[in-house]
Amino acid sequence: MWSFPLLPENASTLAGEVDALFYFLVGISIFFSLLIIGGLIFSAVRYREGSKATREGAKDDYLPVELLWSGIPFLIAIGIFTWAAKVFVDMRVPPKNAMEVYVVGKQWMWKIQHPQGNKEINELHVPVGKPVKLIMTSQDVIHSFYVPAFRIKQDVLPGRYSTQWFEATKTGEYHLFCAEYCGTSHSAMIGKVVVLEQDEYEEWLANRASDVKMLGSGEQLFKQFGCQTCHRQVSGQRGPSLEGLFGKQVRLANGETVTADLDYIRESILNPSTKLVAGYQHLMPTYRNQLNPDQINELVEYVRSLRGEDPSATGR
Ligand code: CUA
Repeated sequence: MWSFPLLPENASTLAGEVDALFYFLVGISIFFSLLIIGGLIFSAVRYREGSKATREGAKDDYLPVELLWSGIPFLIAIGIFTWAAKVFVDMRVPPKNAMEVYVVGKQWMWKIQHPQGNKEINELHVPVGKPVKLIMTSQDVIHSFYVPAFRIKQDVLPGRYSTQWFEATKTGEYHLFCAEYCGTSHSAMIGKVVVLEQDEYEEWLANRASDVKMLGSGEQLFKQFGCQTCHRQVSGQRGPSLEGLFGKQVRLANGETVTADLDYIRESILNPSTKLVAGYQHLMPTYRNQLNPDQINELVEYVRSLRGEDPSATGR
């Protein structure tokens, strides 16, 4: 339909929704611009100085028109808001069955880690037609994960996780950019998303598979740092059990309640005293300087996997 590419390639399930809204906004802007400019030119010509056009019957106010030009834009604006809110929610809420990939932004590269252990830099391999959820954090400053063909852009922040999801609709390679100025080589912080057929993807996974899966590395770190000394299967005196912790409500020493999500687990590894669990003393040291972001992700992934009686559940 368009020989002039107004937008980047459309390669995700979200792209159509975003484009439709975008085209509507552009269309309605053009419509009202033409209406207003047209009226302006018409009046300027017709009522120019010396014109014989009649000026009789001019009104200072006319209620029906005033109601109309307030009411119609109001309805249009509310309509746009409702529509855009729906698109926003669709973009923010990943499907339950989404596969997960960890992303770490750092000056100036994208580090990707698949749960199977595969690591890649400035490349992200995914299967076509499958929702993918990115769990992202930064090692230094704010970056932004931007794939125009998927119509996704999400800030990647130090000290917390942000998430983004997409489902690619066709195979191919798509540009990946950093869309937040992050220093000297910001413009070089680019890469590509490679969308493969399911079987090709599985082959890629198998060929590039690491000896140790993310969970395995996490478990190794858990032992290496002696976490199980205090966090045993059953809550002891020194620390609470982590079995089945993920997603639960946790009562804190200060009386507040928090949900044990990714950010909570991460924070508790780095700043254990910030959200002390009720009934426990502040014994745990910080692991801030002993773990790199990849290792933190691996540990978080491991703690998350300790689901007690139901190891297959993936709800979050
Ligand atoms: Cu990272 Cu700009």
